[in-house]
Amino acid sequence: MNLERTKQIKAAITAVGGYVPNTILSNADLEKMVDTNDAWIRSRTGIKERRILKDASKATSFLAIEAAKDLISKSNLDPETIDLILVATVTPDMPVAATAAYVASSIGAKNAFAYDLSAACSGFLYGMSTSAAYISSGRYKKVLLIGADKMSSIVDYTDRTTCVIFGDGAGAVLFEASPNEFGWEDEYLRSDGQERMSLGIKAGGSLHPTTHETVENNWQYLYQEGKTVFKSAVSEMADSAAEILKRNTLTGKEIDYLIPHQANKRIIDATAQRIGLREDQVLMNITYYGNTTAATIPLLLNDYQSKFKKGDKMIFAAFGGGFTWGSAYLTWAY
Ligand code: UT7
Repeated sequence: MNLERTKQIKAAITAVGGYVPNTILSNADLEKMVDTNDAWIRSRTGIKERRILKDASKATSFLAIEAAKDLISKSNLDPETIDLILVATVTPDMPVAATAAYVASSIGAKNAFAYDLSAACSGFLYGMSTSAAYISSGRYKKVLLIGADKMSSIVDYTDRTTCVIFGDGAGAVLFEASPNEFGWEDEYLRSDGQERMSLGIKAGGSLHPTTHETVENNWQYLYQEGKTVFKSAVSEMADSAAEILKRNTLTGKEIDYLIPHQANKRIIDATAQRIGLREDQVLMNITYYGNTTAATIPLLLNDYQSKFKKGDKMIFAAFGGGFTWGSAYLTWAY
């Protein structure tokens, strides 16, 4: 379904913010922790370093609040005017109380309701769809969408196959009715639950509640079948990006930026190649942040925001645990 035909109000991103913690975990640091090396990490993933929230008393909400505050200070947004706060995350502060509710109270969004959205590395992409739908329907006027993950809280730093990949961070965007003709144009979102055992955390949910045994087996940590995930990520991210271009009658040359989830530079390169993009059309921050899960896309928007011009054509693409994946087309509104 092409959203253009059904929309009453065009939804647009009208402000962005971001936050990464100061502590840097470099490849050289990891060499001292597990059997790995800088050359392998750089050539297989494109990552040089990642940021870690060291303070054990601070959780994902801290990252999300800092990103929200950054957006608020840059845009002069009055928090009391926010209708809804969504936090896309796989590392909520607690399994039950919504992290988003705590974020809302902490930033003074006292007229908002708030909830979390869980779709792993596709969480922010799906969250953009949800935010745009609330705005387009006319139901709400200001939706603050935050992607935030303290991945270091679920990474096993003795497992070299995962600990070199992930980092901590958060990014935030505000969705409002577009002030012009630009904004959310189209989306193509998919999932496949048959593959849930290829990437995830086994214990701590209702399938395997935490027990001594699950802890002895390290099931509280993230694991992934790297090769299986890699193959699916390459094909699904590239296919969905190609599909969204096709149905909007766009070619790679006509788009300004590909804004892909940052899981592995090789996956990003393959997606860009498939839709015929030059290097300068592809936004990346994996080199310095690693994979920050729900935060990669909003952090890209925050880092590159000064380059964007009104009307720029952007293609988003993501793939993550679940499996979940998809692509979206947005034109920049300011
Ligand atoms: O964001 C959510 C979605 N996640 C993804 O999209 C991640 C997708 N997967 C990947 O990015 C890649 O599969 C990895 C980066 C996780 C792994 O790269 P790979 O090229 O697929 O490596 P591999 O798992 O096939 O391992 C190749 C070799 C193995 O050694 P042998 O069996 O060939 O002797 C591994 O044991 O590399 C070894 N290896 C390492 N060596 C040094 C695995 N991890 C490391 C490491 N340092 N950290």
